[in-house]
Amino acid sequence: MPTTRNSIHDNARKAAIAALSARMADAIDLGLAIKHAHWNVRGPQFIAVHEMLDTLRGEMDDHVDTMAERVSQLAGTPQGTLQGVSGATSLPAYPADAKGIEAHLTALADRYGAFANAVRKDIEAVGEAGDPTSADVLTQVSRGVDKALWFIEAHLPGNA
Ligand SMILES: [Fe+2]
Repeated sequence: MPTTRNSIHDNARKAAIAALSARMADAIDLGLAIKHAHWNVRGPQFIAVHEMLDTLRGEMDDHVDTMAERVSQLAGTPQGTLQGVSGATSLPAYPADAKGIEAHLTALADRYGAFANAVRKDIEAVGEAGDPTSADVLTQVSRGVDKALWFIEAHLPGNA
């Protein structure tokens, strides 16, 4: 690992880099799925869902950038290539043939939920490892994805 003048000890840095890198891969994967849904979704309220998904993609791109840059600050190497992300994401493959609003938003809600819950675990682990600043970065991501999950779930049956 390259050196840095940052005083966070090696074990904490390693734990933070591992968590941020894992969640960054998930977030890139999820960002691609969001755009796939933006392009393919059809049904009533099309324009509202289509436009909401573009907003969610923009927010996800911001999360990716914040986590990747934190990895670099810790002297890690954020992996942003398609091949790197493909090997590192923990999310299941997105259903490529989904068509309707409910199918797409259910698939996205499942993945947002898994991602949000993994981020929550990482906040605790990274904080305990000794890097409260990375835990704060993850907390910022958590705040955003919990809100996004609410927006998605509010469109689905059983949430009225
Ligand atoms: Fe578009």
